[in-house]
Amino acid sequence: MKRVVVAIDGPAAAGKSTISKLVAKSLGFTYIDTGAMYRAFTSYVIDKGVDPKNEKECVKLIPEVDIVLYPDGKVMCSGKDVTRVIREQKVSSNVSYIASYKDIRLALVELQRKMAESQSVVMDGRDIGTYVLPNADVKIFMVASVKERADRRFKENMEKGIPCTYEEIVEDVEKRDRIDSSRAFAPLKPAEDSILLDTSLLSIEQVHAAVLKIIKDKVGEF
Ligand code: CDP
Repeated sequence: MKRVVVAIDGPAAAGKSTISKLVAKSLGFTYIDTGAMYRAFTSYVIDKGVDPKNEKECVKLIPEVDIVLYPDGKVMCSGKDVTRVIREQKVSSNVSYIASYKDIRLALVELQRKMAESQSVVMDGRDIGTYVLPNADVKIFMVASVKERADRRFKENMEKGIPCTYEEIVEDVEKRDRIDSSRAFAPLKPAEDSILLDTSLLSIEQVHAAVLKIIKDKVGEF
């Protein structure tokens, strides 16, 4: 079986991780949630009492931060289980500052590339098709309206018992899109060879099927 690399990028709460997980499961590939890594780093910064807007102090923590993603979705950061805390609003509202620091990105990208080296993967994030895995076999840029994305994230948080208000979610999605798209290093943007997929009017099952079809059309049998 040949190795296949699928990159899925897009703005906040576009449904990337839900779909990436399903697609990886259907194909027997490994799912790599790069957003969870930036979130884990952010939770570490907050735990240490460091200001997420202070780049110099945040970068100093790089040698202390050891992130491990487990196949069942568990996320460990320097010996602590951060699976739940990384989804909380205090992390969501600060993660885009941390993700704009070049040195932190370089450290996490090194880890991401290593994870994708020897296996078939579905990796989701902001810069996977443009920077992390520019030679990916399939690149998808997933978008949806701000309203649809905020509705989905609010519902997801309610289901998981993560406290938030709808207004906070709208603000968070818009703020992260702005910071992620305008940062100097590896900003959020579609790769030239990516396929745009607007999921606003599609169900999870429809997006799942659409992505599987895109992969099949591009890669053929594997
Ligand atoms: O799931 P959601 O769309 O809310 O975001 P995520 O994938 O968990 O990513 C959280 C944040 O990490 C993003 O808003 C980006 O600031 C950053 N990120 C990034 O810069 N590059 C990546 N490859 C993945 C995430």
